[in-house]
Amino acid sequence: MKKFIGQTILAVFLLGCTVTPNWGADSAAAAEKPLDREFCRKCHTKEIDDIETKGMAHKTEIDCVDCHAGHKPKSFENIPRCSLCHSDAPHYNQLQCLNCHRNPHRPLEIKFPKKAYAECLTCHETQGEELQQFPSYHSTLACTDCHHQHKDLPECTSCHQSHDPTMAEETCQTCHAPHKPLQIAYSDDTPTSFCSPCHAEATGLLEKTQSKHGQLSCAECHMNQHGTIPACEECHGKPHAPGIHNKFSSCGECHGTAHQLN
Ligand code: HEC
Ligand code: HEC
Ligand code: HEC
Ligand code: HEC
Ligand code: HEC
Ligand code: HEC
Ligand code: HEC
Ligand code: HEC
Ligand code: HEC
Ligand code: HEC
Ligand code: HEC
Ligand code: HEC
Repeated sequence: MKKFIGQTILAVFLLGCTVTPNWGADSAAAAEKPLDREFCRKCHTKEIDDIETKGMAHKTEIDCVDCHAGHKPKSFENIPRCSLCHSDAPHYNQLQCLNCHRNPHRPLEIKFPKKAYAECLTCHETQGEELQQFPSYHSTLACTDCHHQHKDLPECTSCHQSHDPTMAEETCQTCHAPHKPLQIAYSDDTPTSFCSPCHAEATGLLEKTQSKHGQLSCAECHMNQHGTIPACEECHGKPHAPGIHNKFSSCGECHGTAHQLN
């Protein structure tokens, strides 16, 4: 009841107001006092505070009435669509702007919904392309399953165990890219200790060997892509007399394996 009386008084007040102040931009504003923030402040302190502290371009480029033309009870449709002013970019072709821009008076305060994927691609095409082109379990997740807040970079070890206690978070991306984690690639200065946890046999043989191969790291021979097997000739050519190479089809017939040279 109290509220009703309050509103009635207010409605009368506002109806009265509309005679003088200028709600929109249409009439000859020059002569009249335009409806500035000070006027709205009388009743809407929260929105004013929001705009003044975090309004960004919505504070500096436009004013309340550029968005709110008219007022109850005279006008019941004074909530603007974002598309009134933002159009012509993929990012603006979405339905629910307020899903992320929760408060239009603090437009750059962004909170993600639980699941977002296509929305992110309006600005981050590359990540979407990688996830699609190189299918992995990560491709089945929403961006926001990993990135809970904007610009938040999750740690791999927040969801995965490392291969080995000596391999810390910082090592993961020497082999895995987050959006194509099964395309395992690394540089040739990757230390042998990163391979050892999964390749005990090769590591053991190379530790024992007397040959100079024992001084090389795994990655110097198995370069770039995981699983690559080099041919001896890539580094040595055909070092012996042609007769020998013609007679023996593989170097291994005399030398054994690279990890255990005879
Ligand atoms: C005298 C007090 C008063 C002033 C001054 C005032 N408003 Fe309001 N306004 C209200 C009240 C009360 C409501 C709630 C009306 C309702 O929900 O029925 C309201 C509601 C609104 C709404 C929400 C409308 C909706 O559909 O939910 C907007 C937007 C708004 N005001 C904008 C403004 C702007 C912009 C100004 C300054 C140009 C302004 N108001 C000045 C009292 C005021
Ligand atoms: C960029 C456009 C824009 C500007 C500028 C803007 N608003 Fe709003 N305002 C909105 C939108 C959109 C909503 C509806 C938000 C929603 O639905 O959650 C809204 C909602 C409101 C409401 C209703 C809030 C509620 O909880 O129901 C009030 C009151 C209001 N605005 C007042 C103002 C005042 C005062 C100013 C100036 C200081 C202002 N707005 C500037 C876009 C704007
Ligand atoms: C009356 C026009 C108008 C409306 C309606 C409007 N905006 Fe804006 N907005 C602007 C202008 C002007 C700018 C500054 C130039 C630009 O970035 O396009 C801006 C900038 C922004 C920015 C960047 C702020 C900054 O300072 O970098 C965001 C985010 C934004 N708007 C979101 C929204 C959302 C979400 C809505 C709908 C709730 C909305 N706008 C409705 C006019 C408007
Ligand atoms: C999934 C979340 C999300 C949705 C939905 C969303 N935005 Fe954004 N928007 C963002 C992020 C994130 C930024 C970048 C902020 C930054 O640069 O820090 C942004 C930036 C903006 C900007 C600033 C200029 C620019 O392009 O960088 C404007 C304007 C804007 N959005 C308007 C809109 C409008 C209009 C809609 C609805 C059609 C919308 N947004 C829907 C997340 C979203
Ligand atoms: C309107 C454009 C826009 C939208 C939409 C957008 N972003 Fe961004 N995003 C940016 C900008 C601009 C940056 C900062 C640029 C930079 O640091 O490379 C950024 C940075 C990031 C970063 C940090 C990048 C880094 O190198 O540190 C992550 C992570 C991110 N965004 C994830 C997302 C996710 C997830 C979504 C969807 C829920 C999203 N973004 C939606 C514009 C956007
Ligand atoms: C499985 C979790 C996961 C998913 C799903 C995911 N990301 Fe990421 N994203 C990461 C991790 C981890 C990083 C790297 C963090 C670091 O560098 O410390 C990252 C980095 C980024 C970066 C920074 C630049 C780069 O490429 O390294 C952006 C931008 C980004 N993600 C956007 C997205 C977008 C957009 C989506 C959805 C299309 C998405 N991410 C999906 C985990 C994920
Ligand atoms: C928010 C959680 C999350 C983050 C962060 C995350 N992942 Fe995953 N990842 C998963 C889930 C869930 C799976 C599927 C189950 C599993 O294999 O553990 C997965 C699977 C994988 C797979 C196997 C993919 C397949 O299709 O078999 C690899 C490799 C992987 N993640 C590496 C990484 C790396 C490297 C990072 C950091 C750059 C990372 N993940 C960050 C959740 C995450
Ligand atoms: C030296 C390269 C290398 C580094 C560094 C590395 N990984 Fe891997 N990771 C691999 C290889 C190779 C596989 C594939 C094994 C297979 O085919 O089964 C793999 C597989 C995975 C998988 C899939 C599930 C599994 O265990 O087979 C996850 C998850 C994963 N890595 C997470 C991580 C995380 C987290 C880190 C950092 C702590 C990390 N990796 C560091 C090479 C590496
Ligand atoms: C997470 C465990 C893991 C890590 C770390 C790892 N590998 Fe592997 N690697 C495997 C598994 C499992 C296989 C066998 C399955 C396959 O072919 O993918 C394999 C296979 C290989 C093969 C043989 C492929 C074939 O065709 O027989 C080579 C060569 C290899 N790894 C080298 C490396 C090198 C070099 C490193 C370090 C830079 C490394 N691996 C790191 C798990 C790992
Ligand atoms: C990625 C390059 C690379 C590949 C592939 C490679 N080697 Fe070597 N190998 C070397 C280097 C480097 C040395 C040391 C040369 C030096 O110090 O003069 C070496 C040394 C040798 C030696 C001399 C051993 C010693 O202790 O003096 C033999 C024999 C040899 N390699 C045979 C092979 C055979 C057989 C294969 C194939 C199964 C092979 N290598 C594959 C790089 C390679
Ligand atoms: C001198 C170059 C060289 C070095 C150093 C080297 N490899 Fe190899 N590796 C080869 C070659 C060549 C083959 C193919 C088999 C052969 O002919 O010896 C091979 C085969 C493999 C295979 C597949 C078959 C098998 O024998 O298990 C794995 C796995 C492997 N290497 C892992 C490793 C790891 C892990 C390291 C480091 C601890 C390493 N290699 C160091 C050259 C090298
Ligand atoms: C018929 C057996 C045989 C075959 C086949 C063979 N080698 Fe040899 N290789 C030898 C012998 C024996 C030596 C040691 C000669 C010496 O110490 O002077 C040797 C030495 C080497 C050396 C060390 C040369 C140096 O100067 O220290 C390299 C490197 C080498 N072989 C690479 C290869 C490669 C690569 C292949 C295959 C394309 C190959 N060998 C095929 C028997 C063979």
